[in-house]
Amino acid sequence: MQAINPWASQQFKDYARLRDEFGIQEFNFELPDAPRLFRRGIIIGHRDFHLIHDRIIHRRPFAVLTGLMPSGRMHFGHKMTIDQVVYYQNHGGDVHIAVADIEAYAARGIPLEKAREIALEEYVPSYIALGVDPGKAEVYFQSRRREVKDLAWKLGKKINLNEFLKIYGFEGEANMAHMFSPLVQVGDILHVQLDRFGGRRPTVVPVGVDQDPHIRLTRDLVDRWRMFSVIPQGDKIGVFYRGEDAAKVLNEIAPLVESLGLKVELNIPYKALYASEFKGAEEAVMRINETLLEYESKINEFGFFTPSATYHRLITGLTGGKMSSSIPESAIFLTDTPEEARKKVMRAKTGGGATLEEHRKYGGKPEECSVYEFFAYHLIEDDKYLLEIYESCKRGERVCGKCKKEAAGIVEEWMREFRERREWARDLVKEIVKDE
Ligand code: TRP
Ligand code: SF4
Repeated sequence: MQAINPWASQQFKDYARLRDEFGIQEFNFELPDAPRLFRRGIIIGHRDFHLIHDRIIHRRPFAVLTGLMPSGRMHFGHKMTIDQVVYYQNHGGDVHIAVADIEAYAARGIPLEKAREIALEEYVPSYIALGVDPGKAEVYFQSRRREVKDLAWKLGKKINLNEFLKIYGFEGEANMAHMFSPLVQVGDILHVQLDRFGGRRPTVVPVGVDQDPHIRLTRDLVDRWRMFSVIPQGDKIGVFYRGEDAAKVLNEIAPLVESLGLKVELNIPYKALYASEFKGAEEAVMRINETLLEYESKINEFGFFTPSATYHRLITGLTGGKMSSSIPESAIFLTDTPEEARKKVMRAKTGGGATLEEHRKYGGKPEECSVYEFFAYHLIEDDKYLLEIYESCKRGERVCGKCKKEAAGIVEEWMREFRERREWARDLVKEIVKDE
């Protein structure tokens, strides 16, 4: 992968620490036609993405599930999630986007009707205008999808309050609806593996790093509902059965695992099966799990593939801090007028020198510049040209006034075209929204 990753310094360190702390893997997969968020190190981590990579490469089915809270207005930070969704959609994924209206109700006090209006008027037309295809994707409301809510309360049976509080820093005064909303998100992520929504298959959840607690919760719950755990141990892979009647079950799965071309030994008292003589452990674990999930499907109420996740950097706001709906100047909203958008870019915080002389002499700091970030995340497709911007800024040849003008011009033009596409998309909203 041709990686242009000019931030590898400061911010990167924080993300590296985050990864270490929570066991997130660094993202370095080669993807066909990798879009810029992947090429530029903006996707900073993943969990079990190899399951999805495998499906993309072999053109086998996988699901894509993400969700957005219809609370504030939709901005370029949210666009990053949708850009990834569109990539997967174009590489074989079937897409499901949750309108997180239960979460918005519980955590932000937004009435369901209001959330619905915001979603239908603003978010959904923008998804379509960004390339989400009603033929390959659906948008649904958490509050209207019974399977999501059922999974929420059922799967919740396997986590207790102490474990839950270890993941989430809820305090005593937290309202119970808010506390329940992570389980609803678990329901979102897993319900696409129910037969009605396409059946058991790997699922990728593209999110900002802030969403990792939900991902960990979901993955733990999946693991706890499984009949087996599959763990590589040196030159063997251990399959450990968790239920009763180990002799019967292990003798039933032995030929299935053997048919994958693996050598199999049983240890009934340990409730274990050991597979060996494989080439790569990761590949073998994947195939064993596929086979076991097929077997489990007849017996186990909830045998899901462990969902995969990718994590993107959170885009810096134009004012320097967070990009947030609650700080209008920090964000460009997708419904801003082209003129508003241009003005926001012109007022953005840059990484330029204190004075023009200093800038010329010492160069700018693109890695600390919200305008440069905008170029990299959203505005420039050509990697070479982006690198040129980076280097000419560093050398002090490129100056902020002109540079911002260039960015503002691209943004303005983009917004103009986008507005038209969004108007066109309004007619497609009812095609993509699946209400039940
Ligand atoms: N919690 C997410 C947010 O705050 C929204 C969300 C709901 C979500 N369900 C999801 C994200 C499922 C990813 C997957 O924006
Ligand atoms: Fe940012 Fe451009 Fe100024 Fe460099 S020249 S600091 S990239 S605005």
